[in-house]
Amino acid sequence: MSTATKPLLTVEHLEISCRDSEKTNPIVQDVSFQLYKGEMAALTGPSGCGKSVTAHAVVGMLEKEWIVTKGHICYKNQNITTYSEKEWQRLRREEIALLIQHSLNGLNPIRTVKKQMMETLNQRRKLPRKEAVSYLHSLLHQVGFADPAFILSSYPFELSGGMCQRILLAMMLSAKPKILIADEPTTALDVINKEKVMALLKKLQADFDLAVLLISHDQESVNRFADRVIFMEQGGVTG
Ligand SMILES: Nc1ncnc2c1ncn2[C@@H]1O[C@H](COP(=O)(O)OP(=O)(O)O)[C@@H](O)[C@H]1O
Ligand SMILES: [Mg+2]
Repeated sequence: MSTATKPLLTVEHLEISCRDSEKTNPIVQDVSFQLYKGEMAALTGPSGCGKSVTAHAVVGMLEKEWIVTKGHICYKNQNITTYSEKEWQRLRREEIALLIQHSLNGLNPIRTVKKQMMETLNQRRKLPRKEAVSYLHSLLHQVGFADPAFILSSYPFELSGGMCQRILLAMMLSAKPKILIADEPTTALDVINKEKVMALLKKLQADFDLAVLLISHDQESVNRFADRVIFMEQGGVTG
């Protein structure tokens, strides 16, 4: 990583507040960090300090009563803090992918993987069918499936949670995002699967020249895999 190059993503003095009928309470205060092309940076800190809320703000997915009250978020030098819902949707589809535990619900258990991957791919660019299928094969290969044809013809309910997570990653990558934000991707996994997921994220970082923001409170994964660590404390970023 070179600090001479411009960051892809800049978060500056971000404050996020929760608004109820009477008052507006800041939840996250003075969060500043940058993410550069192709690097894996870890955003770490104690549980409840606001890592997930910050990630949601970056892709415009804050809940209704949550608002950015100070600071800004810039992507490729453009202030995205004031984006419309339509602009956020495009950003999420084409530029910044957010992987959360909850996103597994995004896979329909009773539709084939092929149908769902095709649909996602078609939103971004229409390819001739043969080309599209071979592109899906290569994506599934890249996330570690030896038999992509078998996976494409499967239904998510027939596959394990770990396999579905990899399919979801392949789906997200089909849109060629520049940034992948992975929020606690290894929580609830045993040691062996933790290793597998982290190794996969490192591989995808290299294969796709992706900037990865790894959100994790697992100090060991962070120290071993991240190129750089951003510490967040209750109410802000330090160091
Ligand atoms: N949906 C929500 N409603 C109310 N409070 C929330 C919600 N989500 C998170 N919070 C609060 O916001 C703060 C930051 O949470 P979060 O970003 O999830 O922390 P982290 O991901 O660092 O563990 C916490 O105090 C948490 O209790
Ligand atoms: Mg969290």
